[in-house]
Amino acid sequence: MTEAGPLPLKWRPMKVADVDGMLALAEVLYPDHPEERDVILGRLSLYPAGCKVSEREGEIVGYAISHPWVSGQPPSLNAKLIGLPPKSDIYYLHDIAIAPAAQGKGVANAVVVELLAHARSAGFRNAELVAVNGSAPFWSRHGFHRQPPSAMARKLTTYGEGAVYMKRPLV
Ligand SMILES: CC(C)(COP(=O)(O)OP(=O)(O)OC[C@H]1O[C@@H](n2cnc3c(N)ncnc32)[C@H](O)[C@@H]1OP(=O)(O)O)[C@@H](O)C(=O)NCCC(=O)NCCS
Repeated sequence: MTEAGPLPLKWRPMKVADVDGMLALAEVLYPDHPEERDVILGRLSLYPAGCKVSEREGEIVGYAISHPWVSGQPPSLNAKLIGLPPKSDIYYLHDIAIAPAAQGKGVANAVVVELLAHARSAGFRNAELVAVNGSAPFWSRHGFHRQPPSAMARKLTTYGEGAVYMKRPLV
């Protein structure tokens, strides 16, 4: 990515052709916690409305993956979902990631607002996520609150040290 020109605040639906670029960005941001291509393709096919990318000059500089899920039961990292639970009762933000050169410019803000509006319009009353990489303060700014870790400590271990389960109401 070059330094010249305005950064994109626009997000568009993710396509299968974007997955390689998305994985390349994930490798930079999460070298110790990779997710396989099949895992990403699975989420994209199960809930395309929750998968977005932000692109600049043909390069993926941000991606977001989200989908309906069940409260308090985050899927393990790198787990391929075989379907969405018929009794999904929350909207789950699986991952939002921005390339280092594009961070701090409101790119993530734009997609969080968009996805939470989507979740509301789809009828969800709460959103949940696992904050990693010290991102909990970012999520707090978006109205998410830390949840007690005890109930899901084992599930969170796949997300690495310091993972925090967070939740916010959407109504
Ligand atoms: C966390 C992340 C998605 C934020 O993306 P970003 O595009 O840099 O965020 P924005 O520029 O939209 O910042 C939005 C606001 O949050 C603040 N912010 C960003 N990252 C923050 C952090 N880690 N802690 C506290 N505040 C943060 C910004 O200062 C900004 O504040 P403002 O609205 O008052 O200006 C990005 O740093 C990232 O991709 N990190 C690596 C991957 C990651 O850990 N993702 C989270 C997975 S749960």
